Amino acid sequence: MSIMRNLLNIIVIILCGCLYSCCTEGARQTKSGEVCSHTIQVSSLFPSSSPCLVSSKAPNTKSSLRVVHRHSTCSHLSSGRATTNPDHDEILRLDQARVDSINYKISKDRVRPMKSTDVPAKNWGSGPGTYIVTIGIGTPKHDLSLLFDTGSDLTWTQCQPCVGGHCYSQNEPLFNPSLSSSYSNVSCSSPVCDLLEKQELNGGCSASICGYKTSYLDNDATSGFLAKEKFTLTSSDVFDGVNFGCGNHNEAKHMKEVAGILGLGPGELSFPSQTAKTFNKIFSYCLPSSASNFAGHLTFGSAGISKSVKYTPVSSESSHRLNIVGITVCDKQLEIPSTVFSTSSAVIDSGTMITRLPSIAYSALESAFKEKMSIYKITSASEILETCYDFSGLKTVTIPKIAFSFGGGTIVELDPKGILYPIKISQVCFAFARNNKDTDATIFGNVQQQTLQVVYDGAAKRIGFAPNGCT
Ligand SMILES: *[C@@H]1O[C@H](CO)[C@@H](O)[C@H](O)[C@H]1NC(C)=O
Repeated sequence: MSIMRNLLNIIVIILCGCLYSCCTEGARQTKSGEVCSHTIQVSSLFPSSSPCLVSSKAPNTKSSLRVVHRHSTCSHLSSGRATTNPDHDEILRLDQARVDSINYKISKDRVRPMKSTDVPAKNWGSGPGTYIVTIGIGTPKHDLSLLFDTGSDLTWTQCQPCVGGHCYSQNEPLFNPSLSSSYSNVSCSSPVCDLLEKQELNGGCSASICGYKTSYLDNDATSGFLAKEKFTLTSSDVFDGVNFGCGNHNEAKHMKEVAGILGLGPGELSFPSQTAKTFNKIFSYCLPSSASNFAGHLTFGSAGISKSVKYTPVSSESSHRLNIVGITVCDKQLEIPSTVFSTSSAVIDSGTMITRLPSIAYSALESAFKEKMSIYKITSASEILETCYDFSGLKTVTIPKIAFSFGGGTIVELDPKGILYPIKISQVCFAFARNNKDTDATIFGNVQQQTLQVVYDGAAKRIGFAPNGCT
């Protein structure tokens, strides 16, 4: 009986929400008759204190790793536990540093110099990241938490012995190659070492052992030996001789307690490329929201890919590029001249948080959003986030639905958590940012990817999306 009453209450609340949004939105509805807004609990935007649950959508048999948000209750790192109130200024500043490095890389690709000597000496790595997976390296297997990064190719971790003490502190013990029976150095004459050279990750040769080096924009860098090692994803997914960077000189303030990076980029050195025989360069993931108490998953191969996935073609050069063609707010396509998106490249990135848009597109999106949000109180901006609201005292808020249109006619509706970035209840921000230059890349970031199933199909050169990928 009380269940019935609760159900009735919920229905009444939903109906009221609908009526309310219909009135304020001039009864604009989607073609299917759905109301074009989400009514959400304000508390659902903020981290939950409930214990972490395992993602129910993760195919629990093979090739699937648990993905946790660095700052969520599911993170086993102490920075995660301690961050019921993370430093958002710092997080947003690092996010901008990553975007700067992506733009640096992309601008270099766009005007590829004639002579290799014209290339700046450093290939900037992509900076930090948000989501963590744990994999086993070596024999016996040594579990390490790595940032998973679709913007990097080379996987690396800190290795003992650290040169001159240049290792940062990480959550797990450092990997020690001398304790692993499956470790081997890569020689300078190996073709893999030439690949490093091609990608400007070359760290020179010492005693004919191939070195690697990755630099990051805020003076961080990691370098060491290029090595081969056994990688264990699950007990049934073990790969011998995976090339990775064994970093014995690591200045990486932004890594905090994470042991390194799992490179999921499109290049030949990336983990999907090295395991292509088994997984055919296919992987999928679901990124859980920072507020949720469930983990997501990173699954290699085509297990668990939803039938409802819709694909858009990509061109894989040095980053996962896709084509953004439009944005709809409340089922209405924004009027953005088509040249706005075609002037710059667009990439999807697991490590950039906030989606970056060309200024004209950002303005159109922001003004359509603000119009629908006019009953809420605007408050001060935060770093790159220009529009923020004060939701103090509110239990629920009603926000317009937003969808992105990609090349090939694929339309992806964002989860409400992909629309708002919560700093505190009195400052919840519109989770998009404006590019400074017209040539800056449009970046589809991880806040907007939250809860979607995202499929990278490197064999068919396409990326797909489906709703409700985590739960
Ligand atoms: C790899 O190279 C380093 C540096 O020369 C050396 O100290 C280490 O013993 C080598 N490891 C193996 C397994 O050969």
